[in-house]
Amino acid sequence: MSGAIPHCTIDGPSGVGKGTAAKWLATRLGWHLLDSGAMYRVAGIAAEQAGVALEDPEAVAAVVHEMQVRFDGDSASDRIALNGQDITAAVREEGAGMLASRIAVFPEVRDALLDAQRAFLQRPGLVADGRDMGSVVFPDAPLKIFLDASAEERARRRCQQLRQAGMPAILADVLTDIRARDARDRGRKVAPLKAAKDAVVIDTTELPIDAVCERIFSHVQDSGLTAVAS
Ligand code: DC
Repeated sequence: MSGAIPHCTIDGPSGVGKGTAAKWLATRLGWHLLDSGAMYRVAGIAAEQAGVALEDPEAVAAVVHEMQVRFDGDSASDRIALNGQDITAAVREEGAGMLASRIAVFPEVRDALLDAQRAFLQRPGLVADGRDMGSVVFPDAPLKIFLDASAEERARRRCQQLRQAGMPAILADVLTDIRARDARDRGRKVAPLKAAKDAVVIDTTELPIDAVCERIFSHVQDSGLTAVAS
């Protein structure tokens, strides 16, 4: 399925820093970046805008099949347009994360997004970040990383990120949201958040983000993936 195109998956819970690490790694290697969380967020916004019941998997999946999404730039986290409307800022809001987490429990919705995610696997290589990149979407990935950290530390980081982006954030509220998302992401029947059997697990609770990036990069080098990229 994946041929010989080099790729690395980075999975983990909400707020663990995988987005930052994935972007850093993709830039360093000159590879494409798939921010699969952004896809689920766009799907959630599309379903809400269409006015369908978020509890109705088939209706949500139908919206996902119909939606016209444009990711501008080389990564899914740059400008994002839905049906011709720029929704970049809305995609990053916590509300979009909650919507995404609600619709991501449905196999119909996950299937509807599968081909679009796999289409990112192109030369010279791909860094894919999400919840099930190593376990479901790219099961043959030559290198799978799983980042973890305590919920408290992730809430602290997420708060800092939101405030830096000029959005209001209250630590207790962010922690409650993170716990709710963890429960939903880990507890769902289809593609639950968990480390793939062959993933390298890194606990980042005590690690600053640049140390996390360097650690991932050394795994990339050890795996031989940089032979074509450096
Ligand atoms: O990574 P994120 O916070 O942008 O993801 C938003 C939600 O989307 C997350 O709570 C669960 C869902 N998601 C998923 O189910 N599978 C993925 N590969 C990525 C995200």
